[in-house]
Amino acid sequence: MPGRKIIRGGLVVTASDEIHADVLIEDGRIAALAASGTPAAAAFTADQTIDATGRYVIPGGVDGHTHMEMPFGGTYAADTFETGTRAAAWGGTTTIVDFAIQSVGHTLREGLDAWHEKAEGNCAIDYAFHMIVSDVNEETLNEMDLLVEEGVTSFKQFMAYPGVFYSDDGQILRAMQRAAGNGGLIMMHAENGIAIDVLVEQALARGETDPRFHGEVRKALLEAEATHRAIRLAQVAGAPLYVVHVSAAEALAELTRARDDGLNVFGETCPQYLFLSTDNLAEPDFEGAKYVCSTPLRPREHQAALWRGLRTNDLQVVSTDHCPFCFSGQKELGRGDFSKIPNGMPGVENRMDLLHQAVVDGHISRRRWIEIACATPARMFGLYPKKGTIAPGADADVVIYDPGASQVISAETHHMNVDYSAYEGRRITGRVETVLSRGETVIDRREYTGHAGHGVYTPRSTCQYLD
Ligand code: URP
Ligand code: ZN
Ligand code: ZN
Ligand code: ZN
Repeated sequence: MPGRKIIRGGLVVTASDEIHADVLIEDGRIAALAASGTPAAAAFTADQTIDATGRYVIPGGVDGHTHMEMPFGGTYAADTFETGTRAAAWGGTTTIVDFAIQSVGHTLREGLDAWHEKAEGNCAIDYAFHMIVSDVNEETLNEMDLLVEEGVTSFKQFMAYPGVFYSDDGQILRAMQRAAGNGGLIMMHAENGIAIDVLVEQALARGETDPRFHGEVRKALLEAEATHRAIRLAQVAGAPLYVVHVSAAEALAELTRARDDGLNVFGETCPQYLFLSTDNLAEPDFEGAKYVCSTPLRPREHQAALWRGLRTNDLQVVSTDHCPFCFSGQKELGRGDFSKIPNGMPGVENRMDLLHQAVVDGHISRRRWIEIACATPARMFGLYPKKGTIAPGADADVVIYDPGASQVISAETHHMNVDYSAYEGRRITGRVETVLSRGETVIDRREYTGHAGHGVYTPRSTCQYLD
């Protein structure tokens, strides 16, 4: 049992407040906060006191989009639940929501059971599941109701990847109608995959095989078109919509317009779209393959629109879409044919730091950092206030963050099970120092003290923006 702990003297930052406060932790939960130096704070007693002077005390990160051990393109994402959640802890993330997969011809239950089996007993931090719906039929629709009741309250559909995860407009509409009735949230991979497949075929026929052509065929206009279509289908169904990994300014414009019209549509972007660009996809000697993901990286000009969207709340969440494939042996499957490069990038360890750098660089405020990385994903996916904040009653998922530390991101020092970093050599101001998961210290002043199996499955309520 973790016992009673006090975190003294830090600046507690939540999505709504910044206050110099001492935090009392008991039985794995936040028991009380009191302004530092006051009699109330002095009255706190505990078995262990953690000095947070000069540090931020922030809620553990909630990464609402990861793919541990995901099968894709003839291989598997390289992080297991064990390695991926340990890396998440190193990076100050204490909850992930991973995507269980229904394969075509199988039930949602079979997919969910398989993901429970992969995760159970292996996680360093708490975890929950979304469900990827690949086969919409009467049984699947009925299962959606059951899953919502048991805490899997969001369903991802794909307008891309024909023949794998793809759903057509009719299947999407039917799933959305079901979600409208049961309180589920449809998460959409919005790219016109049918049109993209034509462009892929034409590009390859012209001999355009390098990784940079991945970015050229997956056009911003086809992300915007699919985003528009998804919004209108959700409107017809009367369902809320959450668009994942928004990368194109044109797609964001569709979300912004829909939100201005009062629709319940939400948007997520990822660090790779905020910090990287098609320049990376064009790196020579096949190095661009490291940056192949979908939606793809965009020209640099899109970044300003995404930052603005995060400030104006037209984008609400930054998740990682962590889906790592090693350069050696995995990304290399696509040498000579960019369409065979497994799609996905590592990042679960880097998100909190990169977003802190965005605070330092003036893109977002400190509280907005916590809002987009902790509080809003927790609310969006029905985990708040257990996760995503520091308040009495919340799980004691707490990060002591040193805002003045300097670090350089590198595959040499990261903990993700992948042989490269998408942010190699990038200097970051700020660093995770200590991490508590339900009161247990899992990172102690830059030493891993956690263990596989500490993290538990966490069922979710429905989206808390729709209550
Ligand atoms: O390239 C990506 N994003 N891979 C993971 C699967 C997905 O579409 O999110
Ligand atoms: Zn996707
Ligand atoms: Zn994803
Ligand atoms: Zn433990």
